[in-house]
Amino acid sequence: MKIVLLGAPGAGKGTQATRIAEKYGIVHISTGDIFRKNLKEGTPVGLKAKAYIDKGQLVPDEVTCEIVETRLKESDCEKGFMLDGFPRNVMQAEALDKMSDIDLVLNIAVDLDKLMARLTGRRVCKECGESYHISTLQSAKCAKCGGEIIQRADDTEETVGKRLGVYTEQTQPLIDYYSKKGLLKSVDGMKDIDDVFAEVVKVLDGISGRA
Ligand code: AP5
Ligand code: MG
Ligand code: ZN
Repeated sequence: MKIVLLGAPGAGKGTQATRIAEKYGIVHISTGDIFRKNLKEGTPVGLKAKAYIDKGQLVPDEVTCEIVETRLKESDCEKGFMLDGFPRNVMQAEALDKMSDIDLVLNIAVDLDKLMARLTGRRVCKECGESYHISTLQSAKCAKCGGEIIQRADDTEETVGKRLGVYTEQTQPLIDYYSKKGLLKSVDGMKDIDDVFAEVVKVLDGISGRA
């Protein structure tokens, strides 16, 4: 299965990706997570990306595309992969067309006006990246790995506003791009996390026989 998870910031891409990876055993590749890991390690890519991430802007396409192209060549991607947060504009989608044949683009559809509360209330595990929300968070430690729970630096009201603007301008057109290619399936991302996952499973079980 080679799939792309499409969705606005806070749509639940990371949340669903963790569950998909567990159930189907496919590799989860999040460009946002790769940038954050590089940032933590102080690599040149991390330092370059930081300037863009802090402003809620996209990291330049050439940097992002090269990272994805290199990652997809690794042996664990041979049987399939799931991209989360890539592609994010038409230029990246065209680059991906040249890198691989995607089986499905799963769009997590949400009401954009509900995302500010989701993102400013999000907390993430510093170690494994699992997402939580302050409204349901029960402990200061990650339930999956015991790691420390922190707030992402780009989850401030100001930066979330900018990220949503970038999504509307640059990423939303990909719904049309993939719909025209006959690759798009949408799930209702406004339901509870478990109900969204049930919809995701229906779609993935539908394609896994032929992908
Ligand atoms: P990235 O890390 O990809 O962030 P994003 O796209 O803004 O998406 P998020 O991770 O914020 O949201 P999500 O959809 O994963 O939601 P989550 O599951 O956590 O990118 C960050 C930055 O890196 C970019 O701004 C850019 O600068 C750079 N970058 C990354 N990729 C790039 C690329 N391809 N090109 C250029 N630059 C790139 O859920 C959010 C919250 O909601 C959580 O609290 C969660 O618990 C809760 N939640 C989830 N689902 C539900 C639900 N169904 N109901 C209620 N609450 C829910
Ligand atoms: Mg994410
Ligand atoms: Zn964790």
